Amino acid sequence: MSVPSMTLFYNPASPFARKVLILLHETGQLDRVALLPTQVSPVSPDAALNQDNPAGKLPALRLADGNVIHDSRVILEYLDTQHVGNPLIPREGSARWRRLTLASLADALLDAALLIRYETALRPPEKHWDLWLDNQAEKIQRSLAYFEQNAIAELSSHFDIAAISVAAALGYLDFRQPDLDWRNSCPHLANWFAEVSQRPSMQSTRPPA
Ligand code: BEZ
Repeated sequence: MSVPSMTLFYNPASPFARKVLILLHETGQLDRVALLPTQVSPVSPDAALNQDNPAGKLPALRLADGNVIHDSRVILEYLDTQHVGNPLIPREGSARWRRLTLASLADALLDAALLIRYETALRPPEKHWDLWLDNQAEKIQRSLAYFEQNAIAELSSHFDIAAISVAAALGYLDFRQPDLDWRNSCPHLANWFAEVSQRPSMQSTRPPA
């Protein structure tokens, strides 16, 4: 077991941090990173997190040389260059852009889910903007439909950046929107998610109960 040379600012509820943790598991790099639990919300910044990371992005990774990199996409790219196994982000060609685009759609779904979370959990109910909430919910539905109709074979082909990102997004929906019932309209995605959820990297990074 090696001494960690990097520090990951993370929160166990953050789906963006979960992507990084899944990749660390999948690439055998967990030992290299010390995990620093960090509480943060748009209205309660964390001074340690903000150091060298002025926008307070979470997750952030402090490297061995002291430099801080963020956000999750950059951290994933970095960590994927630091192991000797098959890359989880294709280095070039059309596969790179397709897999990164699927990952980007999963991140966009997550952005919408987080905005809903912040609006409903942090803002007083009388200030909730229903039209805005509805539009975030529609983004989520359109993204789920896209994965269901266009990406199951690709997601099933290997557990890489695209699959990790979609799995983290679905896990967050189950965590924060347990009544959404997306499995009913997306049975293939549901089957795929049930299967990948058995992976040790998914099991050991589940959001807190
Ligand atoms: C959450 O509690 O949903 C959450 C916490 C930290 C980052 C993102 C989401």
